[in-house]
Amino acid sequence: MINAEQLYQKLKDIHVGNPICKFTKESCELLLPAVERIEKLKREKNAIILVHNYVAPQIFYSVADYTGDSYGLSKNAKESDADIIVFAAVRFMAETAKILNPQKTVLDPNPNGGCSLADGITAKDVIELRKKFPSHTFVCYINTTAEVKAQCDVCVTSSNVYKIIEKIPNEKIYFLPDKLMGENVIQNLKEKGVKKDIQLWDGTCYVHEEYQSESIDQVRSNFKSVEVLVHPECNSAVVNKADYVGSTSQMLNHVRESERDTFFLLTECGLTGILQSEFPKKKFAGGCTMCKYMKSNSLEDILNVLENPGAQNIIEIDPKTQKNALQCVNQMFEYSAH
Ligand code: 13P
Ligand code: SF4
Repeated sequence: MINAEQLYQKLKDIHVGNPICKFTKESCELLLPAVERIEKLKREKNAIILVHNYVAPQIFYSVADYTGDSYGLSKNAKESDADIIVFAAVRFMAETAKILNPQKTVLDPNPNGGCSLADGITAKDVIELRKKFPSHTFVCYINTTAEVKAQCDVCVTSSNVYKIIEKIPNEKIYFLPDKLMGENVIQNLKEKGVKKDIQLWDGTCYVHEEYQSESIDQVRSNFKSVEVLVHPECNSAVVNKADYVGSTSQMLNHVRESERDTFFLLTECGLTGILQSEFPKKKFAGGCTMCKYMKSNSLEDILNVLENPGAQNIIEIDPKTQKNALQCVNQMFEYSAH
């Protein structure tokens, strides 16, 4: 288990949003009793905790067994032999863990953890779309409910969306729900000379849609050697001006390998905090927009869910939906493996 000094070393460089909101040794000590109780319950119940890169750093650095992007964490969930999976992120990610592990208990400490993408389309919408586009392959972003996945053919994440859509043999694709990501895919395939007819649903991530390419021009005019990293949920004008486009973990790995020392990120700013901690000699800046859903996770809720989960914390998916959604998610693992 991490001690207060080790936790402080991890958190001391992080200031998410307001620079006066910094962790101190005393604030780290105050976190320790909850961390201790969570660690004890994990051992007693054979539980693991998965934590997304955007979740608050005091959770990320204290109780997580695995941290990562939505693809990596889905893989961790798929490969785990724990009896209980606690997923500190948003609802659709916990649901994906349950789709992959119907026999396990999957607990969501943050049952109100929506997502503007996942909340913007229903299974009924997809059923109607399939009538309108009967010969299209339906590709869904992982940011969708289990019911929506159950109506689609192939799931993708931000780390594999370009490659998987390119590999799908059918020229006709319906991609949902992220319109901006879909436009980036269309542009990427056009540049490569790959011919596809891609139809899009009109959804957006409320965090990433805010970013504008002018902020990149401004940063570049002041810092000539800056490297610009953006998430593929940003609009095409932003993506076109970036040096690197990838999932949250791909951006982290890119920074690790990059020879540059100054980075500008356009993604939820929790990632910037993690990068500040991981690479203290490098400098990071970026738009500080927070995802209210990811940020509504807390150590207290993780503790409560391990001690005494309420019905709203236990992920239940009806067997037919689980079976169909699993086929869709497994298609992603198939395409990723070859
Ligand atoms: P990643 O899979 O890149 O971590 O993205 C998840 C997400 O919700 C981005 O907003
Ligand atoms: Fe959803 Fe956007 Fe939050 Fe990611 S950052 S969970 S896409 S609302």
